[in-house]
Amino acid sequence: MAVKVAAAFIFMLFLLSTACQAKLSSAFYHKSCPKAESTIRTAIRTAIARERRMAASLIRLHFHDCFVQGCDASILLDETSSIQSEKTAGANNNSVRGYEVIDKAKSKVEKICPGVVSCADIIAVAARDASAYVSVGGPSWAVKLGRRDSTTASRTLANAELPAFFDRLDRLLSRFQKKGLTARDMVALSGWHQ
Ligand SMILES: *[C@@H]1O[C@H](CO)[C@@H](O)[C@H](O)[C@H]1NC(C)=O
Repeated sequence: MAVKVAAAFIFMLFLLSTACQAKLSSAFYHKSCPKAESTIRTAIRTAIARERRMAASLIRLHFHDCFVQGCDASILLDETSSIQSEKTAGANNNSVRGYEVIDKAKSKVEKICPGVVSCADIIAVAARDASAYVSVGGPSWAVKLGRRDSTTASRTLANAELPAFFDRLDRLLSRFQKKGLTARDMVALSGWHQ
């Protein structure tokens, strides 16, 4: 019996330790793909050097991804018989830009480390790199990595959760608050709509 209890205890420790490994970390790809971040940065800088507005678009793409099911790249999924694409949700259709920039960064990263770096992480890094590149002395941050890509998307959730241009201020504030974002965050993110 004591052996069984000990075995169960060890198994629980194992579960806990794997749960810890699943935590995001800025060192997530240091061993598995050490050039991931520099490769993404080069791709993002190339795109913004070509069209400066792309910096704003990539930040907006990131937060429109995160508002729906979390930062899981669900926004990249196209419509299929089993997937309701978020691309055609009201707040995204014909206004979210930069899909091809993320695709390009992903294909560069796939060339050096096939099947290692998630699209969700690429989007998060791209938004940071875009901000850092266009705002001298402006905001940059360490991006914690290790997100998994979603295999599902939800236009219904996208339509329900993303801020709409006709929302009143109190509604906008509550939408951002639900995602843990302040009024100050909302103003900063709204500034990327250009
Ligand atoms: C998205 O935009 C296209 C092109 O303007 C339009 O044909 C389509 O109906 C829109 N989709 C949705 C779901 O509103």
